[in-house]
Amino acid sequence: MATTAASLEVNNLRFNAEAAAWDSNQKHVESVEKAYDAIKRYVPAFADGSSKNLDVLEIGCGTGLLSFKLAPHVRSLVGVDTADGMISAFNQKVAALPNPEKANLAAVNVVVQEADDVHVQGAAAALATRRGESGHDAPYRFDLIVSHLTLHHIPSMPAILATLFQCLKPGGRIALTDYEDYGPEAIAFHPASKRPGVERHGLKKEEIEMIIDGTGFNEVKVEKAFVLNKEVEAEGGKPVREMDFPFLICLGQRS
Ligand SMILES: C[S@@+](CC[C@H](N)C(=O)[O-])C[C@H]1O[C@@H](n2cnc3c(N)ncnc32)[C@H](O)[C@@H]1O
Repeated sequence: MATTAASLEVNNLRFNAEAAAWDSNQKHVESVEKAYDAIKRYVPAFADGSSKNLDVLEIGCGTGLLSFKLAPHVRSLVGVDTADGMISAFNQKVAALPNPEKANLAAVNVVVQEADDVHVQGAAAALATRRGESGHDAPYRFDLIVSHLTLHHIPSMPAILATLFQCLKPGGRIALTDYEDYGPEAIAFHPASKRPGVERHGLKKEEIEMIIDGTGFNEVKVEKAFVLNKEVEAEGGKPVREMDFPFLICLGQRS
């Protein structure tokens, strides 16, 4: 689809340009810390101490801000991102670890459209080999899928949710965080210069709940998980000001 390809190109240009300085933006760091806290509160494996058994897939991993927080608490993490600049920044951070060859996380530059995607399968297989697992019957599937601040860039919510469902093991869960479209004010989350490539100005609670439910997930819950306060630009006669943006966590389990 022409629109999809165009927005992907716009996004990739933007995120490639922002990748090197991404982690030094304190709002990026703060929003990821809040997403990480929400995941720990809402995903049962973090509460019951079994998170070390989780194989995690992260959609829109970027430079790995969330990935590197989660990785020490899970068995493996495969991140995917469409911007190669973000993946390069992620890989530099892996290379800077004390034992990069033993890292339990990896990232691939791909638009995931099917569970058997070769890049995702390759990364999952490489991590499995690294931890000494042999004879695994491919294809690899995941226990948990996370994604922070990325769904608003993805053209079709039903299509990505259907793909994520297929990527899960039976019993696997999604825990996806993004800002809420709580009304016309939500558009201010992005300055006008960053709006091209934004497919929707946040997630509409009831709409995303219905899509997750319609995909076949059980235990569907979409809740306001945290608030991010950030400065927004002057626009429409309003001055530069601080606004509180609610963030939703979207939960569901594959039976
Ligand atoms: C706002 S950034 C968030 C990055 C990271 N999750 C964080 O919070 O630091 C959105 C990311 O989603 C990526 N992205 C956009 N569309 C995507 C898609 N269809 N699949 C995977 N990643 C995508 C972008 O390249 C970008 O790195």
